Amino acid sequence: MIDRATVDRILDAANIVDVVSDFVTLKRAGANLKGLCPFHDDRTPSFMVSPSKNICKCFACGEGGTPVHFIMKHEQLSYPDALRYLAKKYHIEIKEREQTDEEKAEQSERESLFVVNEWANEWFQKQMNDTVDGRAVGLAYFRQRGFRDDLIKKFQLGFCPDKYDAQWQAAKAEGFNEDYILKTGLCIRNEQGKTYDRFRNRVIFPIHTISGKVVGFGGRVLDSRTKGVSIKYQNSPESVIYSKKRELYGLFFAKKAIVKEDLCYLVEGYTDVMAMHQQGVENVVASSGTALTHEQIRLIHRFTENITVIYDGDAAGIKASQRGIDMILAEGMNVKLLLLPDGDDPDSFARKHSATEYQQYLAEHQVDFIRFKTDLLLQEAQGDPIKLSRLVNNIVESLAVIPDEITRTFYIKETSQMLNLEERIITSAVVKVRKKMRERAASERASSERPASTEGESTPQGGDTGIASAEGHKSPAQGEEERHAITPAGGVDELPDSAFLPTLPGEMPAGRSTSSEEHIIQTERLLVQMLVRHGEKVMGDAEDEQGETRPLSVIDYIYYTLQDDNLQFRHPLHQRILQEAVQHASDEDFRCTRYFENHPDETISTLAIDLAHDKETLSKVHSKGITIPPEEERLGELLPHLMIDYKLAIVDECLRHIQQELRNPEVLKNKAQLQRLLKEFQETKEAQKELGRQAGDRVLMKS
Ligand code: CTP
Ligand code: MN
Repeated sequence: MIDRATVDRILDAANIVDVVSDFVTLKRAGANLKGLCPFHDDRTPSFMVSPSKNICKCFACGEGGTPVHFIMKHEQLSYPDALRYLAKKYHIEIKEREQTDEEKAEQSERESLFVVNEWANEWFQKQMNDTVDGRAVGLAYFRQRGFRDDLIKKFQLGFCPDKYDAQWQAAKAEGFNEDYILKTGLCIRNEQGKTYDRFRNRVIFPIHTISGKVVGFGGRVLDSRTKGVSIKYQNSPESVIYSKKRELYGLFFAKKAIVKEDLCYLVEGYTDVMAMHQQGVENVVASSGTALTHEQIRLIHRFTENITVIYDGDAAGIKASQRGIDMILAEGMNVKLLLLPDGDDPDSFARKHSATEYQQYLAEHQVDFIRFKTDLLLQEAQGDPIKLSRLVNNIVESLAVIPDEITRTFYIKETSQMLNLEERIITSAVVKVRKKMRERAASERASSERPASTEGESTPQGGDTGIASAEGHKSPAQGEEERHAITPAGGVDELPDSAFLPTLPGEMPAGRSTSSEEHIIQTERLLVQMLVRHGEKVMGDAEDEQGETRPLSVIDYIYYTLQDDNLQFRHPLHQRILQEAVQHASDEDFRCTRYFENHPDETISTLAIDLAHDKETLSKVHSKGITIPPEEERLGELLPHLMIDYKLAIVDECLRHIQQELRNPEVLKNKAQLQRLLKEFQETKEAQKELGRQAGDRVLMKS
């Protein structure tokens, strides 16, 4: 954890032009700078960087933000890691928050294992490049397989010499704790207490995390020894830093290309990844021989919606991967498949074709999973009706896991055309399977839950208030994890169409009448804008209960004025911003703009950036010559007006509501209720008048 003061220093140091220039070439354009957008395939420079506002934005695709957010996006880092990245860039020493002893112990073990692995990674490379055996055996092996030296270097390939414990000795000489060396799995201690190198006489593929740290290694025997002698690959064992199901080989080297191409190729092995890079296809990762996991799919999903699975044409493998395809579909991603000819794998295929041919083949031969399955299985079925019906069922199973209804319907249509079957037959089959899946999920849930809590049927759905009929936004196949981001949860439909407001799915108050609600939220937004721009600034003095005058900040003013009338901001995001501002108001050196623009929650930071800067001013040069006193000098006048506006909007809504009830014949029959309503109406009218008066006056502030 980085302490707040350091975070502020980093945020203050980070200069948007500097930061972006590491990735994009920028040219002057008036007061701003322009370049090709790194987030989409940009042909004309649409990416604007504003030095004065210290933010960037693409006017074509909308991506951008503060330096931290740019780094988060571009480097695919978490918020804290993006801060660390910037700290490093600006040579700011990070003081991490004090950790508990347990945290420390775990942290230091993790870190120590990383350090050992980092050392080992260097060592393997040195062994390959700087020793006779390494060059004559290890490097020779890779070269003979056709891997270019630049790729060998990029992927940090190495070699472990054919000695019993060379690495063990070297690691100990380096001063590493034996325990840590053993825990990385680099060395193995047998029952006789002898310790030897796991990877001896193998060529080495280091396995990197998404941010490039080495979590483990794969070691391949050299060809001459493959035959019958030992298993082809030795891999690092699971450890506190290495969980096979959470890593994808090659992702670190692929992520930028995946984002750029908006597509990820999935292959089987280390050498396939290498071969594709060598052919100029860099958006590729490997599951490394294991069955694809949800964690791996989600990793890819962080970068793209689209996966193309590449097969080396053997039918057994394709059938075994059925589950993987269904898992990708259930994740809500688009999956295509590609069959390589004649049992070639991506590696052997690469050796037979030029880069252009290779890329062309990929482009022309990927087909969606339905076409793929149909083609494959139709051949097999050969008109046999039983086999054919099995084929249809097989496809129906895949269709059923697709979480998004529209996508599902689209594919059902395509299937019916391809198989020349009526659409409704497939639809009803899919509905049946989905029903079964739901029942299964429900019974699994029931059996895993304690009997006492079974009545809580409504809660597991989370924010899923509205669309009860939409049969499942969640993939029924995997009841354990819920997905919120893709389909907006209930209530969002009824939102005022203030589209400019980022909305938090599921958090909107549902079922209010639109137009007055929209008006309220718009006026609310102006207050929030003042809060984001000037929150910590003093707008005047106020008297407290003891009759002492004290400075009143914008945060104070908004907070106390709302509180006086028992009001809360309607929009959950607005309310959150206000709450956080109040919480941090007394932090030393607290600045609302900096705080909210750099907020880890992107919804908040996006809104804050929009609010802090008028959109046009980013692209237009400010018109000179006109002198309006700056906003911050007029806070004491502006805010009370905005507040009155806001309250008027609420009063308006109240009046409208009362009038509506007064038109209700049922209400008219009930005398007591009628009287209550009339009284309420009158009071509200009074309040409206009073607010109107205030709006006309020069307002005197009272806290
Ligand atoms: N694999 C493994 N252990 C094995 C065999 C395979 O971990 N005994 C994993 C490796 O990650 C390997 C992938 O499964 O890269 C695919 O296996 P395979 O196609 O046999 O290996 P290739 O990567 O193609 O290696 P090569 O071309 O050198 O045979
Ligand atoms: Mn191979």
